[in-house]
This record gives sequence, C-alpha cells and structure tokens, in this order.
Amino acid sequence: MPKVLVIGGAGYIGSHVVKALLQSQYSVRVYDDLSSGHEINLFANAEFIKGDILDYPSLNEAMKGIDAVVFLAAKKAVGESMINPEKYAVNNIVGSVNVLNAMAENEVKAIVFSSSAAVYGIPQYVPMDEKHPLNPLNFYGFTKVETERLMQWYDALKGIKYTSLRYFNAAGYDADGDVKGKDKEPQNLLPILMEVVTGKRDFLQIFGNDYDTRDGTCLRDYIHVTDLATAHVLSIKRLLEGKESLIVNLGTGTGTSVKEIVIAAEKVFEKNIPVKYAERRSGDPAVLLASNETARKELGWEPKYTNIEDIIRTFAKIY
Ligand code: UD1
Repeated sequence: MPKVLVIGGAGYIGSHVVKALLQSQYSVRVYDDLSSGHEINLFANAEFIKGDILDYPSLNEAMKGIDAVVFLAAKKAVGESMINPEKYAVNNIVGSVNVLNAMAENEVKAIVFSSSAAVYGIPQYVPMDEKHPLNPLNFYGFTKVETERLMQWYDALKGIKYTSLRYFNAAGYDADGDVKGKDKEPQNLLPILMEVVTGKRDFLQIFGNDYDTRDGTCLRDYIHVTDLATAHVLSIKRLLEGKESLIVNLGTGTGTSVKEIVIAAEKVFEKNIPVKYAERRSGDPAVLLASNETARKELGWEPKYTNIEDIIRTFAKIY
C-alpha cells in the first residue's frame, strides 16, 4: 500500500486522520513536533518522527519513500494570529514552503492540505460553495489562502497535485476513544462547553444574542472530526488515482446555533449548563454554512454524523 506522511499527525484532526488511513490499510509515517499534538495520540502501527516543519533537513529526511502527504501542522488560534502575525507567517507560510520544497526535492506528487472556512471571511451568501470570494478577516485565514496559492503554483510548476480541504467547525472525538489528547488551551465553543460540563469552568459565555438568526446567537456548521478524517482518506485515494487538484468545503450543510448547542449538551449530559451573555466577539459572522456538493460529487464523501447530539456525545469519550 502507498505510504502517507501525516505532518501534524499527533494533533486533534491529524490523529483522527492517521486512524482512518490505517483502517484503510495505508502505511503511515507521522511527522509532528508535539508542540500542540500529544504523544498519547500516536498509533503503535504508524511510524513516528518528532520534528518541526521549520527544520528543513529533518522534514526532507522524513519525506523519503513517501507517496502522498497530509499536511495539517499549523498554528490555529485566530485571535493570537492578529496579535502575533509573525508567528503565523513563519509557521503557517514558511512552514508550507518547506513542505512543498521537500515534496519537490523528493518527487512526492500528492498533498492534502488543512484549509479553513476562515479563507472566506464574512459570507456574501450561504451556504458557501468553493467559488465564494476569498476575503479572510484574520491573519490565520490569510495564511491558509497563501498556502492554497503556493500549492497552485507548485502544481503548475512542479506537478504536485493538491486537495485543499476547507474545514468548517470541527467537533467531537473518535467514537471508540482511540484518540486521547484533549485540547490544551481550548478556544472553541465545544471544548469550552465541555469544561463547563465537567466542572472546570463555572459557566459558558455566549458571545452575542442579538444576531439576525432564529434565536439571536451565531449559527455554525459543526462537522464531526471522523467525517473530516474520512474526507482526507478519500482525497488521498483520488489524488493517487492521478486526478486533478481540487478545493473542497467540508461541512454538513446544517447550521446549529450556540443556544441550540447548549440545549443539545444539556440533553446529552443530563445537566444544566449555566450560561452568561457577553458582547459579540469581534470578527464573528452571524452564519457560517457550507455547501458540501463538491465533497459529495468529487470525493464520494458523505457525513455520517448529521445530528448535533451524536457529535456532542462523542466528547464524553475523553472528557
Ligand atoms: C474559528 C475559525 C475557524 C477555525 C476555528 C478553530 C473563523 C471564521 N473561523 O471558528 O476557521 O478553524 O475557529 O480555531 O475565523 N462562542 C461562544 N462562546 C465561547 C466560544 C465560542 O459563544 O466561549 C461562539 C462563537 O461566537 C461562535 C461559535 O461559538 O459563534 C463557534 O465559535 P468557535 O468554536 O470559536 O469557532 P469559529 O469562530 O466559528
């Protein structure tokens, strides 16, 4: 079977991707600096190299004998990217240049990249398809746009085919409990809510209840991480069949509001979740919703988790 290098394979999404690749009989090598990934997320039947994408010689060595790359390693805190863009420029843009150069040097011709709905900025229409204009509101989103552009050039000039997966709101954990590392400093709604459920926090802050939505709180497209992982496997398979480069939104196409998340979690965990309303968070669009037609048509992908309660239930595996 082909050998896949998963860069960032000890992280939250990466470890789920590694599990899915192994289940599909791919041979897997993980490259991760463990800065935000966890050693306990590593699978015994995948090779592991501890290394940083900014360390070109080490990355280049890890690329030997590889057929395809899944590239997830990146800094991902949206707020921090606005305060410390230097860190994001180096890790997310210079890091991407290194990955593509190591691929070119080793004649590796297929890459699946972790992009984000953050490339779009405020939606001009929903659901958003891949043709929606790119207008990132934060530096993090800008770094994702830049890597997509780099990949277009390396495709044209070096024949490296890519699939850029624009994730909407990733959520949940492996239903078998095989991924064990919790988010170290959670910034996102669901991990924060889980800290309220487990008593680590006293209440959840809801940022804004005067949005133009059905209950005044923001709507997001929450997609289970195992469904995301499946899309990576399908993308690798497709690229190794010799298909053209592709950009794909990954979401379920269904919106859930912050209030609806709280109600669903109260039902799943059978407890009251205290909330406090706070000011709107800057840069938050009212609604983010994916059109997943490309994923269905080009990858043959379909989300297995379509019910938010089922997604929330999988958090209980590790919290
Ligand atoms: C953001 C990014 C996304 C990135 C993700 C992970 C954008 C448009 N989206 O998603 O690309 O991949 O972070 O870092 O930049 N909320 C609360 N209380 C909280 C936390 C969140 O009410 O304590 C609300 C937010 O206002 C939002 C929703 O919950 O409406 C989801 O927030 P969050 O989980 O942070 O994800 P996004 O901001 O949608």
